[in-house]
Amino acid sequence: MPTPNIRLATEADAQSIAVMSRCLIELGLRGWSWNPPRVARAIRSRDTCVVVAEVEHQAAGFAIAEFSDTRMHVSLLAVEAAQQRKGIGRTLMAWLEQSALTAGISTVQLELRANNPGAKFFYQALGFDFVGKVPGYYRGEETAFKMRKVIGARDASTLKQ
Ligand SMILES: CC(C)(COP(=O)(O)OP(=O)(O)OC[C@H]1O[C@@H](n2cnc3c(N)ncnc32)[C@H](O)[C@@H]1OP(=O)(O)O)[C@@H](O)C(=O)NCCC(=O)NCCS
Repeated sequence: MPTPNIRLATEADAQSIAVMSRCLIELGLRGWSWNPPRVARAIRSRDTCVVVAEVEHQAAGFAIAEFSDTRMHVSLLAVEAAQQRKGIGRTLMAWLEQSALTAGISTVQLELRANNPGAKFFYQALGFDFVGKVPGYYRGEETAFKMRKVIGARDASTLKQ
């Protein structure tokens, strides 16, 4: 199984990332929330990390995560259907978690569609806990599951300063 190469996205990736979002994550929802202009804005944003997983020089998956002082929020993560169950999603999340740890972030949060059991199993396999439901989170129509993972604790000595 080839190891995916994880790299930062550029604006040239906005279209293909947006299409993956529409086809793999937003499927069946009204409208196209993460359309190419929105993805391009995320790629330009200093607080957002957009990464692409490549297999044999082809985009096979991506993730978008927002960073605050103490938390990383994973907005989107998906792997092309033909490339699923090969460890690419796990590799994308490991890359993001390592970046978050380097930035001193201790908690990762995300939401997923409640009717997506495969994603729930995936995040549970990666150590995320279910922390609640948000009715109507998606377009006012669909419930989200909130999940969270603690990836590191702040050093008590730095908190005193
Ligand atoms: C969820 C998703 C990102 C997982 O990516 P992936 O590359 O297939 O996942 P991995 O191969 O890294 O899986 C890691 C582990 O997660 C678990 N897992 C992943 N997909 C699973 C599924 N459909 N059912 C049950 N467990 C699953 C397994 O334990 C797996 O390890 P294993 O294959 O050794 O058993 C991918 O299925 C996907 O893109 N789905 C559509 C979009 C989506 O739902 N995104 C998440 C919400 S934003």
